[in-house]
Amino acid sequence: MSGYDVRAALESESAQIKDLIHLVGINPTGLDWRRFVVAVNDLGEVVGCGQVKPHGKEILELASIATHPDHRGQGVARKVIEALLRTTPRPLYLMCISNNGPMYEKFGFKSVAHEETPRYFQRIQKLFNVANVIHGVGELLVMKLE
Ligand SMILES: CC(C)(COP(=O)(O)OP(=O)(O)OC[C@H]1O[C@@H](n2cnc3c(N)ncnc32)[C@H](O)[C@@H]1OP(=O)(O)O)[C@@H](O)C(=O)NCCC(=O)NCCS
Repeated sequence: MSGYDVRAALESESAQIKDLIHLVGINPTGLDWRRFVVAVNDLGEVVGCGQVKPHGKEILELASIATHPDHRGQGVARKVIEALLRTTPRPLYLMCISNNGPMYEKFGFKSVAHEETPRYFQRIQKLFNVANVIHGVGELLVMKLE
């Protein structure tokens, strides 16, 4: 991957992060730029991002992993994820639709059995399953990196 600078986000990039998250259609809540790592192209545009979100004192979640459609398949998400993993303690959790599970397995994440899933994620899974019955969007996985 060349031509991308992967680093901590700047306050001035907050709006671009939100635009990217909306563009790719993932959870638009909790987008505090201070937690984000971004991939920026030669034009200074945010083309990829990701963050680690704390939930209380116990739970850390890798979230908001997104690459602009024009820049996919070039290792942008890999660089963002690797940068976040370098500075984050374990365990680290994430939620994703089952289609994206194989991508996170490449980084060592493993699916967590329902009974071992922290209650925070169980609640979201329950809500998601209700939506899934209506919209058929696929299974929501909770994964963990030890
Ligand atoms: C998923 C997404 C972030 C991948 O971004 P990307 O920059 O194209 O990914 P990369 O090129 O860095 O790929 C990283 C690795 O994961 C693999 N990969 C990417 N998407 C994958 C998928 N859906 N399933 C399996 N593997 C995948 C790549 O082959 C690559 O493997 P390699 O490094 O061993 O060659 C991007 O498609 C996207 O923004 N999708 C919409 C938002 C979304 O679903 N985000 C995830 C929320 S959980």
